[in-house]
Amino acid sequence: MTQFTDALTSASKTGAFPDAQEKPFLSGAAEPRNPQTLPPALEVKGVSKSFTRRRRTTPVLDGVNLTVGRGEFVSLVGPSGCGKSTLFHIIGGLTLPDKGSICMNGKEVTGQRGEISYMPQQPALFPWRTIEDNVLLAGEIRGLPRAGARETARRWLQRIGLGGFEQAYPHMLSGGMQQRAAFLRALLAPQELMLLDEPFSALDALTRGEMQRWLLELWEENRRSVLFITHSIEEALLLSSRIYVFSGRPGSVLHTVDVPFPRPRRDEITDDPEFLRLRRRLTDWMREEQAKSRK
Ligand SMILES: Nc1ncnc2c1ncn2[C@@H]1O[C@H](COP(=O)(O)OP(=O)(O)O)[C@@H](O)[C@H]1O
Ligand SMILES: [Mg+2]
Repeated sequence: MTQFTDALTSASKTGAFPDAQEKPFLSGAAEPRNPQTLPPALEVKGVSKSFTRRRRTTPVLDGVNLTVGRGEFVSLVGPSGCGKSTLFHIIGGLTLPDKGSICMNGKEVTGQRGEISYMPQQPALFPWRTIEDNVLLAGEIRGLPRAGARETARRWLQRIGLGGFEQAYPHMLSGGMQQRAAFLRALLAPQELMLLDEPFSALDALTRGEMQRWLLELWEENRRSVLFITHSIEEALLLSSRIYVFSGRPGSVLHTVDVPFPRPRRDEITDDPEFLRLRRRLTDWMREEQAKSRK
């Protein structure tokens, strides 16, 4: 929570987003006029990180390279403890890498906060703020005019099925509804790159399926650059254009998979023979890695 607010606060301090009055959607970046000439939204270059505790050093990330193009949905899957969340903290500038760098839109931003919009594993809504005020938080910290922002938040809450809950407090909502509100807050934040860390992992299977369809639809309509951590291979295949498969700790990219299904995607693709083939292959890789990390 603190880290999240820190990241937002520093965005306002640096004035990194002067024109970001209302930019929930990728303005023009979804179908870039010259996609070849636009630098990627994110480049992670040779990032390594170790943690030292009680004089014991544990390497957590080892030479990670990955890219998220503008308006691309990219997933990262890997065994638990392989450094995925640590990588997100490094991208968000909350943790410094030992080696390597982070570039966004062609500019080096290693260690800089406030460049991303971040949705953590648990819906980090402030319990003392209403749903609407939680959603407004990102814009508020940056000193945007309140009236317009409130109007936008209300429109969106309606659209994501939370109309009527504007004045409710987080504890009055189900887990799925809280995650939708947290996701909307990330979506309405002005930063172009969204990092989503296992956003659906705490939800039951049915709600999770609904949330995936909901996210897919929303994203296909308003393409943002997304890096998404998930444990679910099916979820990664359904949502992403590309999947990076991580090794066990220390995490590094073992495989890169391009997901060929055209968009808009619908549930039926899960019956496609190519989908089943990719799912099998990814499952085998994940099993191998999990078995290795248990040894
Ligand atoms: N601040 C920290 N200090 C020491 N060890 C840490 C710290 N943050 C993460 N780790 C360790 O790094 C490893 C990877 O953690 P994490 O990035 O959360 O993995 P994942 O998200 O892939 O499950 C774990 O062994 C964890 O204990
Ligand atoms: Mg994690």
